[in-house]
Formats: sequence, C-alpha cells, structure tokens
Amino acid sequence: MIAAAPSVAPARRLPSALCAGQPLTALAPMQDVTDLAFMAVVAHYGAPDYFFTEFFRVHAQSRPEKHILRSIDENATGRPVFAQLIGEDLGHLARTAEELLRHNVAGIDLNLGCPAPKVYKKNVGGGLLRDPARIGEILACLRSIVPGLFTVKMRIGFDDTTALDPVIDLVNEHRVDLLSVHGRTVKEMYRSEVHYDFIAQAVARARCPVLANGNVTSAPRAAAILAETRAAGVMIGRHAIRNPWIFRQCREQFAGQPVTRLSLADARDYVERLYRATQAPGLPERDHVNKMKKYLNFVGQSVDPTGAFLHDMRRTDSETQLFAVCDRHLLADPTREFAPEPYPGVIARPNCETPNAVSDGCSLETITA
Ligand SMILES: Cc1cc2nc3c(=O)[nH]c(=O)nc-3n(C[C@H](O)[C@H](O)[C@H](O)COP(=O)(O)O)c2cc1C
Repeated sequence: MIAAAPSVAPARRLPSALCAGQPLTALAPMQDVTDLAFMAVVAHYGAPDYFFTEFFRVHAQSRPEKHILRSIDENATGRPVFAQLIGEDLGHLARTAEELLRHNVAGIDLNLGCPAPKVYKKNVGGGLLRDPARIGEILACLRSIVPGLFTVKMRIGFDDTTALDPVIDLVNEHRVDLLSVHGRTVKEMYRSEVHYDFIAQAVARARCPVLANGNVTSAPRAAAILAETRAAGVMIGRHAIRNPWIFRQCREQFAGQPVTRLSLADARDYVERLYRATQAPGLPERDHVNKMKKYLNFVGQSVDPTGAFLHDMRRTDSETQLFAVCDRHLLADPTREFAPEPYPGVIARPNCETPNAVSDGCSLETITA
C-alpha cells in the first residue's frame, strides 16, 4: 500500500482524496479535451481526485469562455474542479478570478507552462518562467483575492532550469496551496524525456503538496514516479485519453491490490461512450469523426504494436466507417489485452484532416506523444 508522501500541510485543506491516505490523482488540463463530456466519460471509468479545466484566456477583452464554464457548472462527476487561468495582466487576472469564484470551483489555478510560441511570446503561460519577478507580482495579486485554494501548474523552466528554485520560493512566499510540476522545460515541449529529478527538487523545496506530471503512462509507472519524486500525487494527461481507467488503476495499485486488466472490448466500449458524449447539436458528422480521431490517436497506442488500427482509423470520414474499423480491430479478438503501456513506436501524430491543424500548440492537433 502506498501512502501519500508526508508533505507540509497546506494552510488551507485540499479536498479529500477518493481513497483517504492515498496519493492524489488529477486529470491534467488539456485544451479542447478536458471539457464537460470528457470529464464525464473519465468519471464513468473511474474519476481522478481532482479535475482541472482547460485554460481560461485572460486579457482585456476576455470573458470566461462559456464552453469551459460548462465543465464547472454542469459537472456531475462529484469531484472538485479547479479553474485554470492563463494571462499576465494583474487587473484582468483578478477580475477573471473573482468572476470564476462565483462558480462552483475548488480553486483557481495559474498556468505557468504552456509551451506554444504564440502563447509564450506574449509572456503568458510558460513564457512567464523567463520573468520570475512578474510571477511574484501575479502570485501576490491572485493570492490576495483568492480566499480559498490557489494552485499553480508549471514546467521546470523556460530553456533551462535556473528559474526552478526561485519560482518555488515564490510559490512558498505566496502560500500556494498545491503545485503541479510538468518535468520538462518550455523549450522541450512534449517530446523529451521527463526530468523526474527536477520534480523531486521541486517537491523537496515546496512547502505545499506537489503533483508530478509528465508521461505517467500507467498505474505502476505512477507508483514508481511517486517513489522517485516523493510527490503527493500524480497529474495525468494524454495517458488518460488513451486509458480512462488509469485513475481507478492507480487507486488499486496504491492500495496494493491487483490492477484491473483491460481488453479490446473495453476499449470498444470507451470509443462508443466517447462518441455519444461528444456528439453536439449541429456538429456535422464528418467534423465529429475528425474530433474522435484526435482521441483515438492516443487510444490506438494500446491497440496493436503495428499501428494498423491508427492507420485505418485515420482514413475514415463517417460514423459507419469509423465504427466498422473499431469493430474490425477491437472486436475480432475482444478478449485480447488493451495494452497497459503504449506500444513503443506507435505514435499519436497530428491529424491533418482537422481544419485548424496548426493552432496554438496546446491543442491536440499540434501535440504528438
Ligand atoms: C492536447 C493538450 C492540451 C493541453 N492543454 C493544457 C492546458 O490548457 N493547460 C495546461 O496547463 N496544460 C495543458 N496541456 C499540458 C498537460 O496538462 C500536461 O502538462 C502534459 O500533457 C504532460 O502530461 P502528460 O504526459 O500526462 O500528457 C495540454 C496538453 C495536451 C496534450
């Protein structure tokens, strides 16, 4: 049984974990992914302890985006949802945080990690890691107006890790309640190795609990990463798209129980549920199928070692074709295992069929595993 690593108690209590005494689990914020529908599907297979919204953009003209608000207001998962902000203007960040605090949020989260050049060039997201003094001002501002939980999600630096300790010191100074650390620099985007040693460094320095993030591919990997970093929990993104059972499996692993094994028939059930959940009024069938491909890019990493499912799935453009491919690959031998780790070399790659294929680097179209 893995107990939560002892960490200095935060000033404010974090919402209880689903299994008291276990390390925390969180679904990572993912733009265009972690919406109301996706959170509901994940909760069906085993909710994380915490959800985070995709980021609310904050600037002079911004108003909290309605579709992101839905993931808070209509959330029926029963789990706490933290609302994430990305921006750098103190007045507009304060205004937005105050507005979001009128909704049922567990807390306000600040994005210090988005690596998209279009974003960091505006000195927001990961771009702020070049300017710790500005981070200090933002943390002071948000801390002064957020009476409850105030959390931060950061990378380990911009192009090197020299800012890591100074930023953690600011996190301590401004009494941040929970810190998520993605163990890559901004310049490393999504493809490099994850530097768990720097997450461990952040854990050792931070006075609040830390969630370790980056390539937590499975429940056994979650346990190993917790042992290596001494983090209070794990935050999981792309591998929860691939395998939405991962949070339940983590709880089993942490309790020392056998971890549920999944079959291709389970994956077929997930695809169907996701398709129904993401069906939106007025969304043309072809666009819906293309949207599904973005998720299936990740699911396919556990279907077969050759990538044959991905190859066929990417060539569909109707619901009938898509499910025919699913049936052919997932139901031919439905008891075959849905691999707990992604098959090496089976890559989730950009989906060229999607119209805005190069958007802002924090969306599925531009992110490959
Ligand atoms: C499609 C996509 C969208 C993302 N959007 C956000 C976001 O809105 N806010 C954020 O802090 N991080 C965002 N991220 C980064 C993830 O939260 C996470 O830090 C990263 O994917 C590494 O974790 P993983 O290996 O578990 O996926 C996004 C990642 C992906 C793949």
